[in-house]
Amino acid sequence: MVKLESLLEARNRHISQALSIAHGTPLHIVRGEMQYLHASDGTRYLDLVNNVSHVGHCNPLVVEAGQRQMSLLNTNSRYVYSGLTEYLSRLAGTLPGELCVGFMVNSGSEANELAVRLARAYSGNHDMVVIEGAYHGHTGMLIDLSPYKFRGPGGKGEPEPWVHVIPIPDVYRRNDSEFNKELREGISEAGPVAGLLIESMLSCAGQVPLPSGYLDEAASAVRGAGGLLIADEVQVGFGRVGSHMWAFQESGAVPDIVVMGKPIGNGHPMAAVFTTPEIASSFDGMEFFSTFGGNPVSCAIGSAVMDVIERDGLMKRASELGHRFRDGLESLKESHELIGDVRGRGLFLGIEMVRDRGTLEPASKEASAVVDSMRERGVLLSTDGPLHNVIKIKPPMVLSEEDVDETLSKLGLCLSEI
Ligand SMILES: Cc1ncc(COP(=O)(O)O)c(C=O)c1O
Repeated sequence: MVKLESLLEARNRHISQALSIAHGTPLHIVRGEMQYLHASDGTRYLDLVNNVSHVGHCNPLVVEAGQRQMSLLNTNSRYVYSGLTEYLSRLAGTLPGELCVGFMVNSGSEANELAVRLARAYSGNHDMVVIEGAYHGHTGMLIDLSPYKFRGPGGKGEPEPWVHVIPIPDVYRRNDSEFNKELREGISEAGPVAGLLIESMLSCAGQVPLPSGYLDEAASAVRGAGGLLIADEVQVGFGRVGSHMWAFQESGAVPDIVVMGKPIGNGHPMAAVFTTPEIASSFDGMEFFSTFGGNPVSCAIGSAVMDVIERDGLMKRASELGHRFRDGLESLKESHELIGDVRGRGLFLGIEMVRDRGTLEPASKEASAVVDSMRERGVLLSTDGPLHNVIKIKPPMVLSEEDVDETLSKLGLCLSEI
C-alpha cells in the first residue's frame, strides 16, 4: 500500500496549501462503510461529521444505482429521459406546492450562485443580505456573501458595499436581544435588495437553530425590501432535522428559492435549486444549461438516496437518535462545567464549550482538545463557530443507538481528562 509519507509529499507538490487536511494529524482513509471510515493502519473510525454521506458511506443501494445507470446511459439534460423528470417531480413533492421548478447543478456553490442570479433577475435589485458567520460557497460571488470567509484568514475583513450582514440570532450568547427587530431593521437599512440568503439552521456560524418566528419575519422583511427569501438547505436538508424534510419547514415561512446540496447525492457531486414557475422564468430569454447538472447518472443516484431515506425511515431515525444524543449531552452538561450549551435538532447538533458559564468565555482550545482526544478513541468530530468553540455533530443518518451511547461515554471520559 502507498505510504502516508509519500502521499503527503505528493500533496505538497501538487495541491495548494490553501487546502488543509482534516482532523489535525493526517488520516489515511482507504474505505468507507456506512457510518464508519477505515484507515490504512486498520483503525475503524465512527464518522460524526460527514453530513454528505447522508445514507452512509458507499451505501450499496446508491452504489448499485449509479453503476447500473452508468452502464446504460449518461448524457445531458438537453435530451429527454425519464430519470430527470421523475427525480425533479419527486424532489418537488417534498416541497410546498408552489416551489415546483427545479434546476440541477453540480455543487452547493453553483446552486447558491444560481439562486442569487435568479433573485437579482426577478427583483431587479442587486444588493444581498446574509447572516454573520455564514458560509455559502467558494465562488467569487459567494466568498463575498460568506462572512465566514471574508472576515476569516486571507479575507478582506469588511463586506462589499452590496453585501449587508445581520448579526447571528444566537439565543445562548445574546438571549435578551430582539432578534426579529434587529433583522427587520437590518434589512430595511440595506434598502432595496435582491434577497436574503440564509441557512434554515446556521451551520458554520455555530450550529445555531433560528429562534422561533425568525424565518417568518425574514420572509416578510425581505419581501418588503423588494427581494426574495433564499433558504440554503445544503447542510441541513434531506430530513436531517428529524421533524421535516427541510429545516425551513419547522417555521411557517415558505422561501421563494430553496437550495439543496451535499447529502443530495451521498457524495456524488450534484445540487439543486427549486423555485416558483414565475421566478424560474425571470432570466428574460437567457438560456440556462449545466453540462453535467441533472445527468441520468446523477438522477439515478439522487433517486436512490431518496429511496433509502424513505425505505429506512431515516427522518424518524434522525429524530430518535437526535433525542438520545441530546439527552445524553444534557446529562454530560450537568457534570462537566465546560459544556455551556447543547443545541440543535435531529442529527444536526452543537456543543458550545465555555470556560465560565457566567462570562461565556469561549473554551476553544478545550473544544479542540476534546475533538483530538475523541479521534484517539476512534470518533471523528470537528469544531466550528465564530469563536471556534462549538463541537459539531452531523453524522451519516445510518448511525446506531450503540454508536450514540459509545460516543457519549467516550465524550464523558475526554471531558474528565481536561
Ligand atoms: C451551507 C453551505 N452552503 C453552500 C456550500 C457550498 O457547497 P459546495 O462545497 O458543494 O460548493 C456549503 C459547503 O460547505 C455549505 O456548508
